[in-house]
Amino acid sequence: MTARTGPLRVAVLASGGGSNLQAIMDYFREAGDARSADVVVVAANRASAGALDRARAARVPAEVIRDPSDGGAMTRLLESYRTECVVLAGYLKLVPPEVTARWRGRIVNIHPALLPKFGGAGMYGRRVHEAVLAAGETESGATVHQVDDVYDRGAIIAQERVPVKPGDTADTLAARVLAAEHHLYPRTLDALARQLITSR
Ligand code: GRF
Repeated sequence: MTARTGPLRVAVLASGGGSNLQAIMDYFREAGDARSADVVVVAANRASAGALDRARAARVPAEVIRDPSDGGAMTRLLESYRTECVVLAGYLKLVPPEVTARWRGRIVNIHPALLPKFGGAGMYGRRVHEAVLAAGETESGATVHQVDDVYDRGAIIAQERVPVKPGDTADTLAARVLAAEHHLYPRTLDALARQLITSR
């Protein structure tokens, strides 16, 4: 059997602005021929998601997920791009079990807190940072984790910590955590892609 070469084929799912998507696309583009992954499609559950504009600007196919609960349709969409790894970047819908099963060990998410704390259903956006501040935490951060059928429960792959500073608001803390996400996510995906490529 001949080993396949070339970058890992990554699909990114998003719901929002897509700044993590941008960080990921920029990182792999900048790596040029040495890159470990290519973003081959971006799919969003909202046609107005900024992530789709970022994809188009980068000349990456942009797709709208009509029914996020339709696992068969999502599987067909991802397979049509020969997706090897699924990356959630601000994707706010539960991924159907068919998809998590098909890409088990190859589907990851980033969460804007230090899991296992401050995760689970309803813990997204400002609410996460408000909860961190209300709990009087002295640090927060970003977590990259495997995705299974339960929100924010999969195995933790990597974390990056940031301090909670006196006088922080949810907005100032969110900005600090987001900067950590932009640093952590591409580098973690790079490491994961290199592992997955060797197991092709
Ligand atoms: C990030 O904080 C991510 O952790 C969370 O949603 C936000 C997405 O931001 N799940 P963006 O769309 O990547 O700018």
